[in-house]
Amino acid sequence: MSDAPEKRGKPTTVLIVVDPSGSAERLEAELGEAARVLRDGGTVAFPTETVYGLGGNALDRRAVARIFAAKGRPQDNPLIVHIADMGALESIASSVLPGARALADRFWPGPLTLILPKSDAIPDEVTAGLDSVAVRMPSHPVAAALIRAAGVPVAAPSANISGRPSPTSAEHVWHDMAGRIDMLVDGGSADIGVESTVIDMTCSPPMILRPGGITLEEIREVIPETVVLTGGEGLDGPAKSPGLRHRHYSPEAQMWLVIGEWDAQVDEIKSRAAAEVRLGRRVGLLVSTETAAKLCTWIRDCGGEGPVGEIIVAEIGSRNDASQVASGLFDGMRRLDAAEVDMMLAESYDARGMGLAIMNRLMRAAGGRIIRVQGEAGNDLISEKSIE
Ligand code: TXA
Ligand code: MG
Repeated sequence: MSDAPEKRGKPTTVLIVVDPSGSAERLEAELGEAARVLRDGGTVAFPTETVYGLGGNALDRRAVARIFAAKGRPQDNPLIVHIADMGALESIASSVLPGARALADRFWPGPLTLILPKSDAIPDEVTAGLDSVAVRMPSHPVAAALIRAAGVPVAAPSANISGRPSPTSAEHVWHDMAGRIDMLVDGGSADIGVESTVIDMTCSPPMILRPGGITLEEIREVIPETVVLTGGEGLDGPAKSPGLRHRHYSPEAQMWLVIGEWDAQVDEIKSRAAAEVRLGRRVGLLVSTETAAKLCTWIRDCGGEGPVGEIIVAEIGSRNDASQVASGLFDGMRRLDAAEVDMMLAESYDARGMGLAIMNRLMRAAGGRIIRVQGEAGNDLISEKSIE
């Protein structure tokens, strides 16, 4: 039995490894200690199908406070409450309107978060004082087994230091959180790689506040009139989603995002990288397999005049498969940071399907450092304004 949380000083982080392909019963048994830590008010990071989450008992204010402290998260940014069965929804939301029910029926368990009117059972600390609550039922077997074994709803933001790219592996979580949380459950990589889609069901029509693992197109199959939040209200003044006010997904090195036709992007990346390298800088390229292939010979021959820096390439997947790019995106940013690059240049993608979530994360990571070249990639859902 672990010490009562208040007796603990700075946590020593316990690492446990589980096999996500084990049976549900076996997983629940293996996660017994992690579940106990959650019930005792401690913090446990665990894999979900999107990214790793940092969990605490959503009904326990002190546990919630520990999550905010471990992440360095601003108090005004509310958390998502994770559940393992539909029954739990009734105690978290004060009402579940038919549209929300239809989305839950279609996409749960899975990467969709519903904003619903909050019930009194959920402490204000979870929702940052809002009268709405974010709820999601994850499909990852380890997340599901942990929530079930804990027997409480689990509040969990992404398990990164606030502002950093979300973690998609246990190594990422360890890098950010070792010594700050009680336990890390290593259950392999989080495959989708971008966070859940957050949709506000308290307004009509429903509004996507954050594009993510379930696409706009999929949601419109259920609710055709669904809209996507656009407009720059996030930076000052009240934001629809408080999370939009804050710095997000940023690698340590400044990232520049190149937008336009693919060939023109590749040319721009070459000339910018060459100029930086001549200044003796280490340049990180966050690019697709196809772009990396195009750059390969060129990189070997580049440089030569004046001091010569270095080019480090993080290949994140095929341009023709957005799910690969989503899956490799945050890992690519973290790999380039680990290589201590001075700056990053990122390629952009078509903003349809999963591309919308990818472009949202890239735009936010670039924080306004956009280089527009000939032609526009994607569609009008992506503008600098829509992502701040
Ligand atoms: O995939 C995910 O959603 C991951 C995994 C761990 O489940 N979680 C995650 O949590 O990304 P977090 O805290 O990093 O992002 C939650 C987002 C924030 O932008 C927050 O502002 C928004 O959801 N949010 C939470 N409650 C809200 C509410 N009541 N109204 C509007 N936005 C809300
Ligand atoms: Mg986050």
